[in-house]
This record gives sequence, structure tokens and C-alpha cells, in this order.
Amino acid sequence: MAADGMTRNPDTADDTGAETSRRTFMKATGAATAAAAVGTGANGAVAQTDGDVDAILNDLTLEQKAGQMTQVTISSFEPDPGESNVPDSFGVDTVGEYFSELGVGSVLSGGAAPPSFDGSEVVSGINALQEYNLRNADHGVPFLYGVDATHGNGLLAGATVFPQRLNMGSTRDVTLVERAERHTSDATASMGAHWTFAPTTDLQRDPRWGRFFEGISEDPKLTGDMSRARTRGLEDDDRLTACVKHFGAYSIPNNGNDRAPASTSLRDLRTNVLPPYREALQAEPGTVMVNSGAVNGKPAHASHWLLTRMLRENYGFEGMVVSDWDDLDRMLTNHDYAPTFRQATKEAINAGVDMYMIGNGGNAPGPVEYIDTVVSLVEDGEIPMARIDEAVRRILERKADLGLFAEPTVDESRIDGIVGGAQETSEQLARESLVLLENDDDTLPLSGDENVLLTGPGVDGDGNNTRALMQHGGWTLGWQGPSAGGPFPRQRLLTEELRSRVSSLTHVPTTYENTTWWAGQGDGENQQSDENGEFEFTDEQESAVRSAAPDADAVVVVLGEGSHNEGFGDRDELVLDESQQRLVRVVCETTDDSTPVVGVLLAGSPRGGPETFAHLDALLFAGQPGSDGGAAIADALVGNYNPSGKLAFSWPGNAGTPVGTTPVQYNRYPPTSTGGTDNAPLFEFGHGQSYTTFEYGTVSLSRTTVGNPANQSEVTVSVDVTNTGEMAGDHVVEVFNTESYGSVLQPMRRLLGYERVSLDVGETKTVDVTADLTALEVVPGDILGVQPKVVEAGDYELTVGRDGPTTTLTVQNTRSITDSEPVPGRYDIDNDGDADMADVKALMQGIRTRDDD
Ligand code: BGC
Ligand code: BGC
Repeated sequence: MAADGMTRNPDTADDTGAETSRRTFMKATGAATAAAAVGTGANGAVAQTDGDVDAILNDLTLEQKAGQMTQVTISSFEPDPGESNVPDSFGVDTVGEYFSELGVGSVLSGGAAPPSFDGSEVVSGINALQEYNLRNADHGVPFLYGVDATHGNGLLAGATVFPQRLNMGSTRDVTLVERAERHTSDATASMGAHWTFAPTTDLQRDPRWGRFFEGISEDPKLTGDMSRARTRGLEDDDRLTACVKHFGAYSIPNNGNDRAPASTSLRDLRTNVLPPYREALQAEPGTVMVNSGAVNGKPAHASHWLLTRMLRENYGFEGMVVSDWDDLDRMLTNHDYAPTFRQATKEAINAGVDMYMIGNGGNAPGPVEYIDTVVSLVEDGEIPMARIDEAVRRILERKADLGLFAEPTVDESRIDGIVGGAQETSEQLARESLVLLENDDDTLPLSGDENVLLTGPGVDGDGNNTRALMQHGGWTLGWQGPSAGGPFPRQRLLTEELRSRVSSLTHVPTTYENTTWWAGQGDGENQQSDENGEFEFTDEQESAVRSAAPDADAVVVVLGEGSHNEGFGDRDELVLDESQQRLVRVVCETTDDSTPVVGVLLAGSPRGGPETFAHLDALLFAGQPGSDGGAAIADALVGNYNPSGKLAFSWPGNAGTPVGTTPVQYNRYPPTSTGGTDNAPLFEFGHGQSYTTFEYGTVSLSRTTVGNPANQSEVTVSVDVTNTGEMAGDHVVEVFNTESYGSVLQPMRRLLGYERVSLDVGETKTVDVTADLTALEVVPGDILGVQPKVVEAGDYELTVGRDGPTTTLTVQNTRSITDSEPVPGRYDIDNDGDADMADVKALMQGIRTRDDD
């Protein structure tokens, strides 16, 4: 129906009535001009093509192909601070023209905020929209619906949200995490979505970054293992595709600020930063999302090297690449890199971006401008038609793989039985993720017979329980996390859970208000706060604490930070908010020395340091443990569960000062400092105590010598572990390489393998840990770092745990396991995208010039 009007000539586009109406629609929110209502179409919910990708590709016009390469946001619950023209419903009267007029290939509900938080409404809304699309778009191709189901399907009221990614890392339990993601897959597909923008595979490095909570670990192997398992789990339901993001190096912004450029080196990229993505790609995800930042001076969206040479030629990825939110426009607005949107679009598509995610907030170019721009670039010969066909083929193949042509809509009855499920998995994941940081004189566990005072941030001005927000974090029924008044996911909160496990409980919450991201817009106030929220300890609360504390047998103080996300979460300090520090001081003043004071940290980053922790007798890091976090914490406090989590990142030693030494990842090169200051981490990667004690016996290797690591990339490390304490518990056995020499610096330690084991009191088990020798690969050679990655011949000291038994593995020959090819593009001397005779000439030229010197 819109085919004629969609033949664009950018110069005369505004001369046609149809064009003007499209532009008007796209600029004003929700003009109700859709031609047909759902249910009145002639064809029913049947794709008008049979899913033969070649045939469809052959039939589509250039404009329709550009439409397929377009993803628009159809909704957001976030109040609209600016002039954003984002519609806010499934209604065809507001979003119908995206399909009938523009024929877009995909839609998203960004920010974990669909048009409704009710599962049945979402699935019927998506189905109706798909029917509308198929009846009214002139190509009959179903759309892909994408969401951010990043830690469970955290988009629906009553849904199970799993612990955040930083918690997943501390479990070291890859199997359990995969099981959780299978539930996410089912819950997201049953809601009608086809695509989740997960797993986030960015290495966790700088705790000042507002997305630290989204990282699995600072360790490349652990991040890679988990991301591969998550990808597999998320694609468990045939109707859902995963998205490995944000490729690559998004998480290492220069100054810790979101979307600031990353400065790294080819050596660091190839040794640490890129390998987790490579590992996740082994699970063959359908899609990859691009890093919105820049790497070594090149926006990732414009990097042919990253998006084509590395991703496709080196890593063999065959799926579809989607941009991040408005990121073609960000090449202008954020990076000040491209002078025009046309230039940005040309560079991105030629570099390898297949689909543009259009958030279309504020003044960013919308889908009409994008489609026009693509068409005109192809007509002017600036983007080859073959490149467009390649992109559209990948998009259509995803739709075919997901079965959308055969079955465009979803059974609406499934969702109700799934929302809120997988409680056991969620609770187990939350438990295993708890890290006991300190436990002086066996303060914990409590006996359960105590009269407990529970205090700390947990209520806002309207009396809402805001501790729930701290328990879930961002991407939970909202971009920045849930709103204080709800709706909430299914949740078991600490107050009630602890109350049911101790003799009596007095609760004195202090104030925490989540400063929402739009707050202050217009009056010059910046929402961002280094504390990630506003905390208060009022006089009234103080007197309540002062009167309850002396009668308490134990005090549990909840500390931490508020829910946050992306740039609004960035902070320049990691110290706990002043009012929380004061609360701890008041508790200590009003209790005698024999009363245990226990800290529980709910935070998405390493918050606080010795200035606070020194006053506590025990400290449990709970991260952002999700739906069943309250039950897991309460069980750990009273010893129904024995903590077993291990930190997956290193806690800066001076996190209590405004700007600590950071990053301090455990696998850094020595030294951290040559000055007088001790800049070592306060708690290192792998730290985590237990209520019992474990002892290691001697360690042995399945072989002590490896001739060729390319043929023998794994060695089994066996060690006897005995529970020598008085409580059953889990223990994670980790194997590190702790000493080695080579042609380049060696990290202080690096993780080769890990295994979780359960041991009864007095029990001994022989634990076999698979040591993965790919973790020993380095990029040899001088500073450029272009040689193939290899395991260098030599002796490698292996240590079990922090300072357990050691043994030596000898590697006889220098060989590559993962990277026998040199860096792609290395021989493309003239940088034209091909390694050919012209490069030989350019090389000769270079050599001759040098000879002449
Ligand atoms: C984030 C992505 C996310 C997308 C859609 C972007 O701002 O960087 O991680 O998937 O929004 O919500
Ligand atoms: C963010 C997205 C998010 C959206 C929510 C954008 O500014 O970058 O990640 O989904 O806001 O409204």
C-alpha cells in the first residue's frame, strides 16, 4: 500500500504528500492516522511469504530493504523529559505506521520497560501488532521484537529476576547460571519477544563505571565461560535469540564514564578484552550488539576491523549485527566524529552494522531519515548493494531461524504459568552468590535466638520499601530499576525473611530515595550522584536506633547503593554515603563490645572501605541478588546456608577515599605501586570466607609436561579437599598460574580453572579441576602486539586457591591454541580492506623508503 510513496528521492522527498505525512507522524507523538485497525485485515496472522530468504530478498525494493535494517523503539514507561517522540503503547494508532508506511524490520521496548508490565497484555499486544504488520506492511515480513531480559525476564510484574550479573560471577557455577537463563529464555519467548539483548560480555574492570553491575567478572576466562553458557541458555527456547554485547571493549572507558572512549592496546585487547566475546560466540548467538564507545580513537560502530575482520573473519560469526541505541547519531553528538548523519550511516553500514537501533529520543534522526539516507547512499554508490543484501539476508535468516514466517504469533496462554517461576534456581543462585568478606571471631552465623535490630536504608518519604530497589538494580521493570511505588518483580525481602528466622526483630529503616533519571531536568539539577541515590539518617531515625540498639543481641546494618544504570550510574567515588557511615558509628556507640554488628552490602559495585568496615564484626556482600535475595541473605545470616561465593572482581584497597587506586584487577601486571602506599586490593578476586574451614592435600597433574598446547589444551589438576570445620558447606577450588616467565610481562595471577564442591563435616573429596591452557596465551613481540597469540614454552607454577599447594607444569613448545592466524588486516598495508598486490607494492615502497634513508 505504501510502496509508491516510499520511492524516495531525498531532494524531492518533501514534495510528496505521503512523505510529509510520514515525517509529521514521526515527529509528533502518536498521530492517529493508521489506516486499518487490528482484526480487519484480509489475510489474518499469516506471513505473506513462506520464508524463502532468497525469494524475499529478490522481491524487496531497496527501500524495503532499508526498512528491514531499521529497528524502532515502540515504547517506554520512563516519563518523557524532553521532546522525545517515543510512543508509549502497542496501539496501532500510535505505532501502526512504522509498519504500514515504513515497513520496519524490528521493534524494541528499551530499558526493560514494555508498554505494559502485565505478561498477558504484553503477549496479546505483540501478537496484535504482528498481525497488523503482516496485514499492512506491503512485504509480509514479520518483525523481530527485542527486549532487555538481562537477569531473568525482568520486564513483568511478579516475574522472577535472577541475581545481577556481578552476582552470577561470584557463584562460579556455570551450570546453575545456564539453568537460570533457560528460564529467562522461556519466560521471554512466552511473552512474545524474539530477542533479548543479553548476555553482556564486557569485562568488569572499572568500578566507577555505571554499568559495573552488568559484568560477570574482571577475569576473561570466567566471563567467557559464563557468557557462553548464558548464550546457550538464552537460546534454549527456539523462539528467542541472544545478543552478545557490547562488541568490543565497551567496559573499559578511559575515565570510568559510560560511553567515554577506551584507550587500550592491541595486546590488552587480544589477551584480555576480546577473548570473552570470542568464547560467547562459540555458542553461535543469533546477534551481536556494538560498543557505543570508541576504541583507540575509532568509534566501534565505524570500525571495519572490529565488526568485520575480527568478528566475522577471525571469530567466524555469521549472525546479525545491531547497533546500540541511537549510536549512528552518537557518532555526531557523542564522539564529534562524523560531520553528518549521512557520513555516520555510510561508515557504520560499510563497517558491518546490519541493523540500526533507533531510540529516537530528543532530536536524533528517526526511521524516516535513516531509511532515506540508506537509500540515497546506495543510489549514489557509497554503500554497495551487495552490502545491503548481505545485511538484509542476515536479518531475514534470523526471522526464518526463529520460525516467524511459519508461526508469526505466540500462544497467549503460556505466559501466566511461567511468570514468577524457577524460584528454586533463583534462590540457589542468590545463595551461592553471597560473599562473606569478613567474619571476625566467628561472629556469623547468628544462632536465631537473638533479638535483632535491623536497620539501614529501606524506606523513602512516601513510606515505600526502597530496599527492594537495592536488591534488584537496573534493568528491572524499568531502565534504572523499579520505581519506589512498584510494580515489582516477585520478591522476598530481607525484613520479613529475617523476622521469621530470629527470636524477634526490630526494624528501623533509614531513608533512601532513588533519584530517578529525569529528576531535575529543566532546573539544571543533575540526577547523577556519586552515592547512586539520596540517603538520609534523620534525627528521628537516630533516636529510634539509639533506643533499640542497647537491647539488641545483634545488629544487622544494611548498607550500599541505590539502583542505577548507564551514564546515570557513573560515580567518582566508592565511599559509602556519609549518612550510612554515621549510622554505623551510632550503632557502635550504642551497643556494647559483645554485641555483634553485622554489615550486609546491597550494591552493584565495591562500595565502602576500611573507614566503615573496621567498625563491623562481619560483612556479607550480597550484590544485587534479585527476587530471592532476601531469603538467601537471611538464611546465610542464621547459618541455614553456609556462604560460598568468591569475589569475581577485586575490591580497591582505598575504596573509602573519594578516588581510590582503580582499576586493580588481580590479573594486572606487577607492580601496582613503587611508592610507599600499599595500593593492593582490599579483597582480591577469589576472596570469600565460609563458616567452616577447608584444607587442601597435595596437588597432582594429569600430566606435568605438555609438548604441544595446540593438541593438548587442557590438563586436569587434582587436589584433595577436606572440610575441617564444624559445618557442611560448598567450596570453590580455583587453580591459578602464579609464576612464569616469557617474552612479555606476565600477569600477577591468572585463573585457569575452578570447580565447586560440597563437603560434609570431616569429609574429604578429590576434586578434579580442568585447567584451560588458553588462559596462558600471550601476544609475544614488541609493543605493537600483532603476532599470533601463543602459549610460550616454559615452566608455569600452578597454585590452588590463594596460597594453597603448588605444582609446576612444563610447556615444551610455543604454540597457539585459539589464534593460529595473525591479526586479521595485518597485511592490509594500504588499509583498503583487502590484502592484495597493492599491499605488496605499498610494503615494498615502505622498505625502499627506509633503504634510501
Ligand atoms: C544499552 C544497551 C541496551 C539498549 C536497549 C542501550 O542504551 O547500551 O545495552 O540493550 O539500550 O535498551
Ligand atoms: C538508554 C536506553 C534505555 C532508554 C530507556 C536510553 O537513553 O540509553 O538504554 O533503554 O533510555 O528509555
